[in-house]
Amino acid sequence: MPLVSTRQLLDEAAKGGYGVGAFNVNDMEQIQAIMEAAKETNSPVIIQASRGARAFAQDNYLYHLMLAAAELYPQIPLAMHLDHGNSFETCESAIKLGFTSVMMDGSLKPDGKTPATFEENVAVTKKVVDYAHERGISVEGEIGVLGGIEDGHGAGGSGLDHVTDPDQAVEFAELTGVDSLAIAIGTSHGAYKFTKKPDGSVLKMDLLIAIHKRLPNTHLVMHGSSSVPKDLQDIINQYGGKLKETWGVPVEEIQLGIKNGVRKVNVDTDNRLAITGAIRKVLWETPEKFDPRDYMKPARAAMQKVVALRMTQFGQAGHASDYTAISIADMAKGYKNGTLVTKPLVAAK
Ligand code: G3H
Ligand code: 13P
Ligand code: ZN
Repeated sequence: MPLVSTRQLLDEAAKGGYGVGAFNVNDMEQIQAIMEAAKETNSPVIIQASRGARAFAQDNYLYHLMLAAAELYPQIPLAMHLDHGNSFETCESAIKLGFTSVMMDGSLKPDGKTPATFEENVAVTKKVVDYAHERGISVEGEIGVLGGIEDGHGAGGSGLDHVTDPDQAVEFAELTGVDSLAIAIGTSHGAYKFTKKPDGSVLKMDLLIAIHKRLPNTHLVMHGSSSVPKDLQDIINQYGGKLKETWGVPVEEIQLGIKNGVRKVNVDTDNRLAITGAIRKVLWETPEKFDPRDYMKPARAAMQKVVALRMTQFGQAGHASDYTAISIADMAKGYKNGTLVTKPLVAAK
């Protein structure tokens, strides 16, 4: 199957009442792990690359690895998504390269650190939406700001500093016409999200439900959705790592989100933990080894296991063969003639 638009994947997920994991990648082994997990579970999938990943791997390597994935797994609907684009130019370059969807994270200024004003966010996001839709590419916007910092990206601080206001979410969706909307409900990027199992005082699922009630047809996106499982933390620490005790987002809370309009679930940290634990174990137990394949194979297998489990938990498993790809050119036609709706349905308060 050619690379498909994230909008198509999320529209299908809404019809089927499930969520789609969006997994971050930086290299070939991570792409291989995700594709094998998708094959194993017969899942549609979103693979996403951040600015940091694009710089690390270089655009052309990344793009051609994604084409290889699409070629090798013709049965799997696969979207290639830009994670946390910081400016119009970053989104434009991703679209020119061949990404099939982009996130314009206008919740932060282009420095990727300072919270932007609502007006700045609307202006840059709308500019990206106009440019992208003309080319059949779908757009994710963000309203509210997540906590934490990953690779220099993020406002830092707690996930509760800038949670999403439901009225602003409605206004933002109406003014921009985004295909999906990332909201801030107390989560953060990275491993250190919560200091104990989160309850409603720190993980605002009630806020997510309130936003979904106002925007019942808008595809919501949960960032910072790694669960940071204790067993993966323990493996790292057992083999010489020094992670502090920490909690992520429990899978059952993500499943509650999926029942309430969440269609895209962003996961990076859990895979990083799985890879690091597997590599540490090999190097610790067999320090004489030096062939990278000796530790990259178990690392890739450990990531595949996490991804396959999340695909099953998010409900996307079994749905790869539900539909055939709409070409990006036909998506562009759909945006133009209005069959792809961009005006959100808004319910009264
Ligand atoms: O949004 C954060 C993702 O985990 C990507 O992280 O910017 O370090 O590649 P990164
Ligand atoms: P985690 O750090 O929780 O995996 O979040 C990833 C993410 O939101 C990528 O955009
Ligand atoms: Zn994110």
